[in-house]
Order: sequence, then structure tokens, then C-alpha cells
Amino acid sequence: MPSTLLTDLPAYAELRALADSLKSASIQEFFSQQPNRVEQFTLEAAGLRLDFSKHLLSAAAHSKLIELAQQAGLAARATALLQGEALNNTEQRPALHSLLRAKQAPLSALRDKLEQVHSTQQRMRDWCERLNQGQHQGFSGAVITDVVNIGIGGSDLGPRLVSDALRFYHGDIACHYVANVDPADLQSTLLELSPESTLFIICSKSFRTEETLINAQVARQWVLNAGASEADLDKHFLAITSNLEAAADFGIPDQHCLPLWDWVGGRYSVWSAVGLSCAIAIGWDNFTAFLAGAERMDEHFQQAPVAQNMPMLLSLLEIWYCNFFAAENHSVLPYDQGLQRLPSFLQQLTMESNGKQVAQDGRSLPYHTAPILWGSAGSMGQHSFHQLLHQGTRLCPVDFILPLTTHTGMTEQHRFLVANGLAQSRTLLLGRSAEEAKAALLKRGLSDSEAEELAPHLAMPGNRPNTVISFEAVTPETLGALLALYEHRTFCSGQLWGINSFDQWGVELGKDIGMDILSRLEGEQKAAPLDPATEQLMLRWREAQRL
Ligand code: F6P
Repeated sequence: MPSTLLTDLPAYAELRALADSLKSASIQEFFSQQPNRVEQFTLEAAGLRLDFSKHLLSAAAHSKLIELAQQAGLAARATALLQGEALNNTEQRPALHSLLRAKQAPLSALRDKLEQVHSTQQRMRDWCERLNQGQHQGFSGAVITDVVNIGIGGSDLGPRLVSDALRFYHGDIACHYVANVDPADLQSTLLELSPESTLFIICSKSFRTEETLINAQVARQWVLNAGASEADLDKHFLAITSNLEAAADFGIPDQHCLPLWDWVGGRYSVWSAVGLSCAIAIGWDNFTAFLAGAERMDEHFQQAPVAQNMPMLLSLLEIWYCNFFAAENHSVLPYDQGLQRLPSFLQQLTMESNGKQVAQDGRSLPYHTAPILWGSAGSMGQHSFHQLLHQGTRLCPVDFILPLTTHTGMTEQHRFLVANGLAQSRTLLLGRSAEEAKAALLKRGLSDSEAEELAPHLAMPGNRPNTVISFEAVTPETLGALLALYEHRTFCSGQLWGINSFDQWGVELGKDIGMDILSRLEGEQKAAPLDPATEQLMLRWREAQRL
């Protein structure tokens, strides 16, 4: 069946006209025209509050976007996702990450799968308790004190983010993350650790990812070099994978493997056994609360009408700027140090899911899809890239992520952080005219001509759209809700663009070419040379190795 494209939806043309009429609109004027704009443009769900009042969005454009979502049948698509329809059409499978946090199966046909989830959770819980109670010993009898998750992409970013974000919930076991095949990553981690008291979790859905397997082999050798025998190794290795055979070949027996299923995509897998490392760090009860927060967002996504639906609304804003205002970027700025890895997590979620150029039916798309997502924790960015956000020439919508309290107990210092987050959001809205800049300069004692000359450099256009997602504190529940919010946002945008958000064919060719180049670097002679630029660089590499 041909995919419905964004441009096929009747509201598309009307939105285009509306967007054109709003190109020079003032967000501040919207506030004057709509006295209840903040209330009207704020949604609440699962402990999160989403304020989208500071957007280039009139009441009419907002209503038209809601119509667009209705015409695309987003509510029915949400049901199809949550009920396990095979939406990943190129791999003929569902994307059932929501089942990983469900207490009850949405359909009786999903009961078997849910039972597998729950029995895996029981095993995760056993490992969490065993380790946290000091009941698991390494080859020398030393109690395990450190866990190292070796994985990459979805087998790293989610658990690493959760572990970082919830550091105030950590118990005694220290969790570490190694992802890069650069030996410096593993080496610097191992320097701090003792092989006798370290447990490795080899986390790879496919158990075929070279980076992970290479790091796992080095870790294995590190434990052997410390005096462990082959038979001792299972005391130091767990695997999270859907490829039990490959894990067994590596030497990890079945009882040390926790399963993952093909209906869970890597970037959606933090809720599964992939989350074991962070579950160990924060304890099982907190991990359960993390799942519960996500489940609340799933329920909201399923039940709330489009106009009240947080993930749908976030997606409509993404479409609004990407497709009607030609925005190429999207910045996410968490004002929380623990959430500093959120932009990296969202990069994979957004760009691997929706960085696509063809529709589900294979047709080329006549419009842009996922924006380039980037960001970092506030307030650091204020002293680097915010300059571009305020005075650069590109449109870059921003999501501010703003927890209102801190776990540190240092409320005064945290107040300063909150003030900065709010100030950045407001400054993007207000900007400063050349006249205002000149007046400020005159006040500082500059002469009229000096002020006149300098004013354009201080002027800021303002009117720059931004969303504020606030919540009381970073807790397991709010973090679960936040990640599920962005997951469903990503799905909705994929549906509106008519694409499959659950495959990632674009990463495959680079892996094949990487293996070909590796074999050449290892000295294999091949008949056909590579492109001249790569040949030159390989030559330089050989020279650098003194080969
Ligand atoms: O190469 C991309 C990718 O397949 C991601 O989609 C995935 O999260 C990552 O690699 C790791 O894959 P695996 O868990 O199979 O090692």
C-alpha cells in the first residue's frame, strides 16, 4: 500500500499558507492577543509540564496542526504501535518497547511476550539484589564492587544516561560504561578497577557489533591475565543479547545471558535487560519506578486527545519548524548536570529513527525529515554556542529541560541554575532592538556616536522559538516519562513523514567498508585499489606504524 506523505494531508497546504503569513509574526504579540496563551499552550502529563507558548504559533496554526495529526490518524497509529502491529515494515516486526514497561498486556495476543518480559525482569531483579547484597564473588572470592557495561549505540546510551541522571539513587556498586573501540576508553576504565571484583555486562542485541566484541575480548583477557581460569570467567561476565549462540561461543553460558527480542529496537531498549547496569546502580525498586514513569506516558499517549497529547504536540512542533520554516537544527538543553547525556541519547533516538530519505513504500520523500539534534547541559552552553542561538542566522528551536529542584541539597546554587535556564528561554523570546541596545550603551556612558556604532552588534532579533519541559525533580518516574515522551514524539514524526522509524539500514554500508579497510590495513592484498584519497591515508597510516 502506498504510504501517505505529509504533503498528501489536506491540512498541509493550509499550514504552508499559515506559516508563510507568520514568517514575520511576533511571538510577544501572540501573548498580548491571547491573554491565556500560557494556559492554552501548556500540557501536563506523567509529572511533566510542557510549555509551548513561546513558539511562532498562532491559535489558528495550532488548530491546523491538530487537524494535520487527525488527518494522519495519529491516534490510531499510536494504538497500532502500542498493540504491536508490525510497523517496522522493512524488517516485518513490531516495535513493542512499550510492552517492556507494561504491567498488563494491551491484547491477549501479547500475553506470551509480556510473560517473557516479566520473567526476564525477575532475573534482572535477582542479579540486582545479588550484586547489591554483596553475594556475588569473582574468581578469587572477592565481592564484586564494580560493573562495566560494554556496549555501543542503544546498548550504551540509554543505561549510561539513566545511571548518570539518577546518581543520587546509586547504591554501593559502581557502574562504568565502555563504548568506543578506541582502546583508550576501555584502558582508562580498567585502570581504576581490579579484575577480581569487576563484572562485565556484554550488552549487544546482535552480539555481532565489532566495537563491543573487540572490547569484550580485551576485558576477557584482562581477567585471565589476573589469574582467573577459563572456568572462572562466568563469574565475571553476563551477556544481554538476542543472539544466545554467539554469546555461548564467546564463553558466556545461558544462565548468564539475559534475553532481548527482535521486537525491541536498540535505541528503544533501555527498558529491557539492556538497562541491567543502571538497574544495578539505582536498585531494582527505582528501576521499576523508572518503568512506571514511562508506562504513565504510554497511557497518556494512548488516551489523550491530540490537542492534549504531549508526544503528538512535540512532534507537530518538530514538523512545523522542519517542514514549514526550513529549520535544520533542533537543540535540547537540559538544565541539569545529570542529564548532560540526554542530547546524545536523543541524537540516536531522533537521527537513527527518522534520518531517512524514503517513505515506507520506498518512494523518495519530497521534504526534509529528522533535524540535526544537538545540545549540552546548561549553563555551560551559555558560554559557548548560545551566541549562535541568540544572534546567529539560523533558526534553531530549543527544548529547555528544567527540573525545579535539586538532589544536592544546595538549593541556593541550584536557584542560580534555574534562573539561568529561565533567562535563556526569555532572552530567546525577547531579544533586544538596536534602539534598546543604544539606550543601554548610553547609560553605560558611551557617547552618542559610539553607542550608535556599537548598537547593531548588541542587537538581538529575539522571537526565537523554544519549549520548556519542567518537572519537580529528576526522579526515576520523571526520567522514565521524559524518555518515553521523546520516544513517542519520534514515532509520531516518523508517521507524519510517512517513514519507518524502526530500521537503520544507513549504518550498514559503513560497517562493511570498515571491515574491508581493516583487512587491507592488516596486509591483505586485494586486486582493486580503493579511491585515491583513502589509499593515500592508508599509506600515511602504514608510515606512522613504521611498517
Ligand atoms: O550500528 C547501529 C546499531 O545497530 C544501533 O542501532 C544499535 O543500537 C547499535 O548498533 C548496537 O547494536 P548491538 O546492540 O546489536 O550491539
